[in-house]
Amino acid sequence: MQKEIGFITGRCCIYSGKLITLCGGEGAGKSTQAKKIFDFFQSENIPCILTKEPGGTKIGLMIRKILLSPENSDIYNKTELLLYLADRAEHFHKVIVPGLQNGKIVICDRFIDSTFVYQGEARGMDIDFINYVHKYILGDFLPDLTLVLDCRPKSGLERVDRDLACGTRTEDESRFDSEKISFHEKIRAGFLKLAEKNENARFYLIDAEKTVDNVFESIKSAIIEKGIIQN
Ligand SMILES: Nc1ncnc2c1ncn2[C@@H]1O[C@H](COP(=O)(O)OP(=O)(O)O)[C@@H](O)[C@H]1O
Ligand SMILES: [Mg+2]
Repeated sequence: MQKEIGFITGRCCIYSGKLITLCGGEGAGKSTQAKKIFDFFQSENIPCILTKEPGGTKIGLMIRKILLSPENSDIYNKTELLLYLADRAEHFHKVIVPGLQNGKIVICDRFIDSTFVYQGEARGMDIDFINYVHKYILGDFLPDLTLVLDCRPKSGLERVDRDLACGTRTEDESRFDSEKISFHEKIRAGFLKLAEKNENARFYLIDAEKTVDNVFESIKSAIIEKGIIQN
């Protein structure tokens, strides 16, 4: 794999790994597909890490518990935003950068785009501030590939309800699930807007209503097309 020069948190940084991020609404299949990508890379002996936000570090897990617990649904929106960003700083510094420096492909379930869409688009918070803090945490760094898993909120929420009914999705993951459908529509529109603009050519829109295996085939094509791995 080619060495690349990146510029991370204000320092010049040499890293040879790649970052793949997954985003999309609740129940779109992000965690399912992140695991499938990880299993696929492992079966091909490609060094990789599977991680997530929030909660990809010890401190991040504590933050995740606060953020996703339904009993905290009265959280002040600025507190919520700052906690997501604190989780990101910890995770980027302790997991993503070391992984990339060790030449790994880092697969991250949610990243910066979820903040743009959930806090920026849906909650109407200050995008300039979000950009400013991201610059403070990440420098000029951006993911190599961002998979936007798109499905109708109705389909995603039905999947989530099924998981809740059979106990495979825990309450601590479900705070956003109980938001009104209009909130989920805003989330979907926000991600579609990002995919359409495709800044830095890092986005890839995936139809997440297809079967799990078909979705994964589209993801594999994106990974090859973006040169993350060779065919
Ligand atoms: N393409 C798909 N078709 C049908 N069910 C799916 C699909 N992708 C995921 N699921 C199921 O939907 C539920 C939610 O998936 P999950 O990966 O947890 O979503 P997310 O992480 O985006 O919230 C899980 O039970 C999963 O098995
Ligand atoms: Mg998930």
